[in-house]
Amino acid sequence: MNKMWAGRTAGALDKTADDFNSSIAVDKRMYRQDIEGSMAHAAMLGAKGIISSADSSLIIDTLGAILDDIESGKLSIAADAEDIHMFVEAELTSRIGDVGRRLHTARSRNDQVALDLRLYLRDECEEIVARICKLIAAVFKVAEANKTTIMPGYTHLQRAQPITFGHHLLAYAMMLIRDAGRIGDAKRRMNVSPLGCCALAGTTYPIDRAMTAASLGFGAVALNSLDGVSDRDFCVELESALAILMMHLSRFSEEIILWSSFEFGFVTLSDAYTTGSSIMPQKKNSDMAELVRGKSGRVYGNLFATLTMLKGLPLAYNKDMQEDKEAVFDSVDTVKACLEVFAPMVETMEVHADAMYKAAQGGFINATDLADYLVKKGEPFRSAYKTVGQIVAYAVREKTVLDDIPLEIYKGFDANFDADLYEAIKLETCVKKRVSAGGTSEASFAAERDFVAAFLEKNEVK
Ligand code: ARG
Repeated sequence: MNKMWAGRTAGALDKTADDFNSSIAVDKRMYRQDIEGSMAHAAMLGAKGIISSADSSLIIDTLGAILDDIESGKLSIAADAEDIHMFVEAELTSRIGDVGRRLHTARSRNDQVALDLRLYLRDECEEIVARICKLIAAVFKVAEANKTTIMPGYTHLQRAQPITFGHHLLAYAMMLIRDAGRIGDAKRRMNVSPLGCCALAGTTYPIDRAMTAASLGFGAVALNSLDGVSDRDFCVELESALAILMMHLSRFSEEIILWSSFEFGFVTLSDAYTTGSSIMPQKKNSDMAELVRGKSGRVYGNLFATLTMLKGLPLAYNKDMQEDKEAVFDSVDTVKACLEVFAPMVETMEVHADAMYKAAQGGFINATDLADYLVKKGEPFRSAYKTVGQIVAYAVREKTVLDDIPLEIYKGFDANFDADLYEAIKLETCVKKRVSAGGTSEASFAAERDFVAAFLEKNEVK
């Protein structure tokens, strides 16, 4: 293939090397950003008199036609092109000859690719945040409906204290709100224009970087040309935020898998989000949640691939950096797909409040409340803790639960026990009394609910 950069080299590139070098399969998705970036560049070249305004207009119009043709399917992106930048420029030149050859004045593919990638990921950040908001809305809906549904809360996967399912679910809403914030932060720092940094050192032409930056919606221009072309922090930051998001989704998935197991029976996933087994007729597998959990691996991997690719790279651009896109695009695609399936899966799951309540009744999860009962009667917490520990040991021996031990036995352990202890250790009381900020009571739930609702309102998710 005829290379636009052929000049210094006279011999043809080996076919295998050419294929190896090509990134078109990965970067062709940035065709729109590449064209829009070139339009902004051409407009600036015209405005500054670097090229004539007639040439500038012809370039812009032709780029517009190329964009239309790609979007309508009339023009397909050549699979053997070196990359999307070369493809668009070659197409432009094939349409308008020498005028097209003027576009790359005062520009390098190094600032061009950095520009395209920032533009592309900037939009994806918005799309991902929108999908996170949809998931938060689904979680919120189920949480609201279950603000008084009692379940066992766990530590060490051992039943610990009674909580509500609504409170448990909103823990995920909090994580997801932070995720959206991290992606928003990444987007803000990403929104800096590298266009005009050129190959690495800037240019001798009287370009106007502020003009191209403003027309492309950037908040600022990169102030160091070497940094502008070699910085991929914006990929690393986004990949980090997405890795953290996947970590959250993997934890949520794990719980959904547990909850929908026969052993827990807390929820039943809709048939629309489960699969059967090819051999075991009784099976209903939570494949979507398992896949999301599994896919967290590749999103972590992409982060490490990018960090490792960048490690020790001398300034400025190095071809190693072409590897950035495959990793970050895979993280973006994976996360979007996971969020897309997760929200309706959560929204449609059937909640078995009775099974949750039953599980909360065993396991002495009101033992802390029994100790607190003694504390309220004046005992130091450590002594109360010890007494209740002995009572639990007694109950285990007698195969009973705290609610069923007779008052005389209680009095034998501590004279401070009275008949009101039974009310104090009821699951409903345990939940209702946890009124501290951020606690599981309905009153505390209202505050966190309002916080989540305000977030959704701000992000216009109804
Ligand atoms: N396809 C290349 C990439 O993705 C474009 C930049 C090439 N620049 C260069 N000097 N070879 O990184």
